[in-house]
Amino acid sequence: MTWTVPPIAPERLPGLLAAMPKAELHLHIEGSLEPEMIFALAARNGVALPYASVEALRRAYAFTDLQSFLDIYYQGAAVLLEEQDFHDLASAYLARAAAENVVHAEIFFDPQTHTARGVDMGTVIRGLARACADAPARHGISAALILCFLRHLSEREAFETLEAALPYRDQFIGVGLDSSEVGHPPEKFARVFARCRELGLRIVAHAGEEGPPAYIWQALDVLKAERIDHGVQAVHDPALMRRLADGRVPLTVCPLSNQKLRVFPDLARHSLPRLLDAGLCATINSDDPAYFGGYVNENFRAVFAATGLRAEAAWRLAANSFEASFAGNAAKRDWTQRLQDCFERWHDDKA
Ligand code: HPA
Ligand code: ZN
Repeated sequence: MTWTVPPIAPERLPGLLAAMPKAELHLHIEGSLEPEMIFALAARNGVALPYASVEALRRAYAFTDLQSFLDIYYQGAAVLLEEQDFHDLASAYLARAAAENVVHAEIFFDPQTHTARGVDMGTVIRGLARACADAPARHGISAALILCFLRHLSEREAFETLEAALPYRDQFIGVGLDSSEVGHPPEKFARVFARCRELGLRIVAHAGEEGPPAYIWQALDVLKAERIDHGVQAVHDPALMRRLADGRVPLTVCPLSNQKLRVFPDLARHSLPRLLDAGLCATINSDDPAYFGGYVNENFRAVFAATGLRAEAAWRLAANSFEASFAGNAAKRDWTQRLQDCFERWHDDKA
């Protein structure tokens, strides 16, 4: 099916960006843990926090790079102990996403952050999966889980994590790779991901956030990643750009994350417009919205304002998010039709 993008007046673009249906494909559920919820869960679970107040905690969110963020992010997750905590966290995110016209979310979780503290794998997955299963009825959106391996830990620990998760195999659709990138190339996990492919899991990987284009090549050729999370460093490698464009390999781009972790000197110099110009299947996502200053709509608003992207790009990014998702073709067609309807309403001034 071919779609035509109705013209939209520039002053109506910010409203359209918020109103249009979209999928979110790069969201770490632990990164949606708001400071208020950290304090509420700490009180509920009797966990001591090294911060006196929500404001003091927020003041610590002054990151200089990926590692400076990860240190605080893992510390925040320490308040998550019970199945209900994981459920409440995911349910709060899904309510927020639905309010921003996200129609489908594929959600990362980091089990090793929790099992290392003595939390059982089943506690984590059951809580998150229950919130996802309830999402259509409660929030009017669909949701699925992707288990991420922490790449700063060993291959053996990744295998142990996979083993522990296998009793819950039907509760997650795929696996990813996150945490400290530089020094931990995708090939370190070649055998784990080969096993995951045998198990029929979908494959994604963070690559080219701070790491070089070589890590994106490895994610594609060694891990056989179907999507690249971030991937914004691909612009430094023309052959890689052609490979990503020709293969329609999606990139899940997170503008505010890149700004906060200083991947680009400022948002105006973000590589997103170059990725779109080169015909890549780029999408916009929020990564860790509680830490980076905005959920998905704020990511759209900020990057459009900073780079001057226009309505055609809005259409492309939302349509890409559906194409890039692991949902079925019928759902993708339905969402794309809803995108078309939304653009027509905004074009006709009826919205
Ligand atoms: N990169 C790597 N690991 C992460 C991120 C990220 O952006 N967010 C949460 N864990
Ligand atoms: Zn991420």
